[in-house]
Amino acid sequence: MKRTSLERLRLMKSEKTPIVCLTAYDFSFGSLLDGAGVDVVLVGDSLGMVVQGHSTTLPVTLDDIIYHTSCVARGCEKSLVVADMPFGSYESSREKAFESAARILGEAGAHMVKIEGGELVRDTISFLADRGIPVCGHLGLMPQSVNMLSGFRVQGREEAVAKQLLKDANSLDKAGLSLLVLEAIPANLAETVTYSVESPTIGIGAGSGTDGQVLILYDLLGIYPHKSPSFSKNFMNDAKSIADAIGIYADDVRHRRFPAPEHSF
Ligand code: KIV
Repeated sequence: MKRTSLERLRLMKSEKTPIVCLTAYDFSFGSLLDGAGVDVVLVGDSLGMVVQGHSTTLPVTLDDIIYHTSCVARGCEKSLVVADMPFGSYESSREKAFESAARILGEAGAHMVKIEGGELVRDTISFLADRGIPVCGHLGLMPQSVNMLSGFRVQGREEAVAKQLLKDANSLDKAGLSLLVLEAIPANLAETVTYSVESPTIGIGAGSGTDGQVLILYDLLGIYPHKSPSFSKNFMNDAKSIADAIGIYADDVRHRRFPAPEHSF
């Protein structure tokens, strides 16, 4: 089987085949997810919390992302590897974003970078896409803006915020986005966004109407020592091994059994 391509992701969206995505931060887990047929492996800056023990994702550096992405990429033969652009590595200019993204692709071996933000990152997305760098957007709960959001909270419940999110999604989509993560937003809003953009959407705490799902691996395995979000699920409860838990998650996403209504807003 060939590696997941952008074309394949678009096809999956049009055929309504759910896209399975999970985070990983090292070679062994990257390899396990790849073997389980996970379509997209995300080296999220959530590593700042679940691997490094910080209380937010803000301390994660570009070198951290490059190190962890290179470990994961060595384990992934078929999965598309997406890496987060960490806080401070892309906001000040599109040139800075290009330099950071070029290191993430060139040195670490990722196939796509992920950027948090709405309209404000539109130019950066088209600048990168025009130069051969596929970009995944991230709307809704954007952990790098935790200090502006007064904590990790559901976004888009108010009409004005929901409208702005839909506008942002369409704007980024037109700028050349390849994938869009929607985090912690009401299921009906995520479904509306999914229908209105060409980019495949990947939900986390965004209901079952997105084109795919992602979870933080350590929440799925129940090993993060602090409280996991309510939209998450510990798949080890019904599994015999770690590989089994990952397989159950992938199967549940593919058959739209996860997320269940109790994991949605
Ligand atoms: O950093 C991360 O792992 C993420 C996911 C929550 C989508 O951005």
